[in-house]
Amino acid sequence: MSNDNDLREKTLESNRYVHSFLVGINEYQKSPHFRPENQQKVRGILLRLTSGLSNKKQMIDFGCGTGFIIALSHDLFDEVVGVDITREMMAQVDLSPGNIKLVEALAEKTPFAENQFDFATAYSFMDHLFDYREFLQEAYRVLKPGGVLYTDLNPNREFIHSMLQASAVLEPEQRSVILRREIEGALDNGSNYEQQFGLDATALAQAEPGKTLAKGFQAQEVLDYAKLLGFRTVEVEYEWYVDQGFWVNQQPEGYAQIIDQYLQSMLPVSAHFYKYLRFILTK
Ligand SMILES: C[S@@+](CC[C@H](N)C(=O)[O-])C[C@H]1O[C@@H](n2cnc3c(N)ncnc32)[C@H](O)[C@@H]1O
Repeated sequence: MSNDNDLREKTLESNRYVHSFLVGINEYQKSPHFRPENQQKVRGILLRLTSGLSNKKQMIDFGCGTGFIIALSHDLFDEVVGVDITREMMAQVDLSPGNIKLVEALAEKTPFAENQFDFATAYSFMDHLFDYREFLQEAYRVLKPGGVLYTDLNPNREFIHSMLQASAVLEPEQRSVILRREIEGALDNGSNYEQQFGLDATALAQAEPGKTLAKGFQAQEVLDYAKLLGFRTVEVEYEWYVDQGFWVNQQPEGYAQIIDQYLQSMLPVSAHFYKYLRFILTK
């Protein structure tokens, strides 16, 4: 138990260190999810998921960081509340819309009332937690009945496992260019940040236990746990297939979408081609 508590503390401490470091050297803001095409995609998802809500008074963004989701959603609600543990990240949130409130708190233990929020988000967040189940429990508690939790960019365990298998059977020189890149992305945590900027790679690994220790999320396990908590409907969507970035930039446009449609039509057989999971859980 005390070992668990030590690990939990270490995870929090590493998160504060890594995020304050990255935002301090202006690197966090360069994360791929800030690219305009991804912002457009996430805005579309937010519009889709909020269109059916009966109330749009308050939403909460867990692990809000520098405000990626807040910037894309503040006009959809009367008030947006951002929760995070890293002050340096929160200091970057654009508060100019006037309806944004920031609270420094653990996402697993917030100071909010039961049934308070109409909508909740957690983007690029769950893999940073010591135990994502504690967070889902808290999200369920603060959501109103009928409220929706949207959590995205969660590493897919099936993908990471297939990269582990590939790295076990293929020597580096036997790997295709794509596989070399993908294996490195999936398994190597932060050595480039260490080499380039002096960020402690061990701390980066400790800040993402959902990726480095658990090797990502198993979709059915998350859905089953959400059901157990009481979420009425639970859904998973698969996103960002291997090498999609290459196909997005091909001319004429449209290849990336055709490949995605094909792989989506083959789910769950093609699940291991997708790097991330998006969960949509309705209380
Ligand atoms: C990868 S960043 C994502 C930030 C933002 N959602 C985005 O998409 O850019 C993860 C954030 O989670 C925060 N965080 C980590 N553990 C947390 C916890 N237990 N409670 C609240 N925030 C946490 C970190 O401080 C960091 O700002």
